[in-house]
Amino acid sequence: MKHIVLVGFMGCGKTRVGRALARELGLPFVDMDEQIVARAKMPVTDIFAKHGEAYFREMETAVLEDLLAEKKQMVIGSGGGVPMQEANRPLLEESMVVYIEAPIGILMERLANDKKRPILKGGDLREKITTMLEVRNPIYEQVSDIEVSTNNGSVERIVQQIVEKLVEKRV
Ligand code: S3P
Repeated sequence: MKHIVLVGFMGCGKTRVGRALARELGLPFVDMDEQIVARAKMPVTDIFAKHGEAYFREMETAVLEDLLAEKKQMVIGSGGGVPMQEANRPLLEESMVVYIEAPIGILMERLANDKKRPILKGGDLREKITTMLEVRNPIYEQVSDIEVSTNNGSVERIVQQIVEKLVEKRV
């Protein structure tokens, strides 16, 4: 039994797709950021502001470790930075990793007025996302077993694509 971990850039739909996928598969859904917020008892922006990114990343790894140690299979919505941390990659290898790829236009639309993601603060948003995608996309590809593209498709359509690919992989 492998846990199903959704990875991808902020705003790609990991949480929305993850919830719908979990419903479809009859599995529980857990969102990593929600777990971190519950543990820290403060929002992600406050964790970054008070303790810094390194502290957030440590919490993120601890949450990932704990979730993957759960015996009952689940769908896990990860934070966009999870695969960037080398410490997390061997953990992801134990899981069925699904990469949700989204074009920059969709990401821009979804992130334009975002206040919850400290990593996007300041500077030109398009430039920032473009630079981050250049670094991150190859890593998302590298860690994933399955890749689906949003291409503005409905959540149901994306879930269907994932389910078909999971069946091919006999998960
Ligand atoms: C981050 C993504 C966020 C959250 C934090 C850092 C990142 O999660 O973990 O703000 O580095 O990409 P989402 O991908 O769910 O927005």
